Amino acid sequence: MTPETTPEVNQTVAPGVDLGRLMGEIEALAAFSDTPAPSVTRVLWTQPDRQARAFVLERFQAAGLRIRLDGLGNTFARWVGRDDTLPAVATGSHTDAIPQAGRYDGVVGVLGGLEAIRTLQAEGFSPARSLELILFTAEEPTRFGVGCLGSRAMSGALDEAALLALRGEDGVGLDQARRAAGFDLPLDEVRLPSGQYAAFVELHIEQGPELEREDLDIGVVSHIAAPASLLLHFGGEGGHAGARLMPGRRDALLAAAEAALALERATLEAGAMDAVGTAGLLNVSPNAINSIPSRVTMGLDLRDTDAGRRDATLARALAGAREAAARRGVTLEEQFLNADPPAQADEAIMAATQAACRARGYAARPLVSRAYHDALFMARLAPTGMIFIPCRGGVSHRPDEYSSPGHIGRGVRVLADVLAELSRG
Ligand code: HGY
Ligand code: MN
Ligand code: MN
Repeated sequence: MTPETTPEVNQTVAPGVDLGRLMGEIEALAAFSDTPAPSVTRVLWTQPDRQARAFVLERFQAAGLRIRLDGLGNTFARWVGRDDTLPAVATGSHTDAIPQAGRYDGVVGVLGGLEAIRTLQAEGFSPARSLELILFTAEEPTRFGVGCLGSRAMSGALDEAALLALRGEDGVGLDQARRAAGFDLPLDEVRLPSGQYAAFVELHIEQGPELEREDLDIGVVSHIAAPASLLLHFGGEGGHAGARLMPGRRDALLAAAEAALALERATLEAGAMDAVGTAGLLNVSPNAINSIPSRVTMGLDLRDTDAGRRDATLARALAGAREAAARRGVTLEEQFLNADPPAQADEAIMAATQAACRARGYAARPLVSRAYHDALFMARLAPTGMIFIPCRGGVSHRPDEYSSPGHIGRGVRVLADVLAELSRG
């Protein structure tokens, strides 16, 4: 692994990549946030998200790419190849960010994808197949509870009726929100025909510790784990924290607490490192220190490379939640958000990525993606691959998320080489 270096020195690490320009653009994009630096908060169609979209669009146009936007704001920036009638080769990722996140998640795949294209342009490469860079709308589940909104709709996993049924916690529906953000093209035109792309390759930070721990430069993603998420709505009695004595209390928060522990127990009982379960979202009402919680909503997130094992884990967790709610006289309503199958990377794209790493002298190995990505849904449309780069301490979805110019440069260089290989015609 090449030690962390400055953009100037990185020409030896990532020849041809203009790292100074790219790191400056990553820095500029990070400024569009609803929370102070170093955190980044950029929720779908909020002002920072719209500023980020405008910034990225201007960068795409400056690179001479042909732009198309769809009814969800998915943004397609095309470098037209010699034969634009051939299915294009695509790359891309997202720029939206959960609250208090970092500046590299998704951004490395959007601005790094742009830099890969600009690098090939500067090197005089002439693609036979067009190269299309995609900025996907709402990879994060924050606003409407469903992740990969744009790629999910593009792949047909979410149809127009399901999109129109989505409503944020603020009560604003998806259709009203998208129109307020300036996107009003028909939603039934978001879906793409399979065969639209010859391949899709996404560059992303690993969001885990394995590459750094093993001193590797690149992760060649082999599988993307299967995510499932749901909301549990608990209804209790509430009441005065002082005057309501303990016997017979129907405390919604304590039922939720037992459900979170049931999720942890069920996940550990799966006996597999790939099985993960998290209760990361909790809304308590009335949320006053001197009032017994009467209504609680808790969000559960479960993942596993084996969808059947994931569903068995979920069933055990729900059994525990239902038993706790019943024993405590608390009502429980289950709201399913998504339960997606895992995705397998395309062997040929993995081989092309490994070959590019060998040619560049980068240390690489196959790796499972435990986070989901837009690639999870693009895999339903085209042969798909992902290129991972290390992030410090494996940290992500935190303000201290970090990947060095050297790591980013190597990722961009490999992406450029793979895109060239796939679009050579
Ligand atoms: O949750 C995920 O895996 C992704 O970062 N949205
Ligand atoms: Mn993320
Ligand atoms: Mn991401």
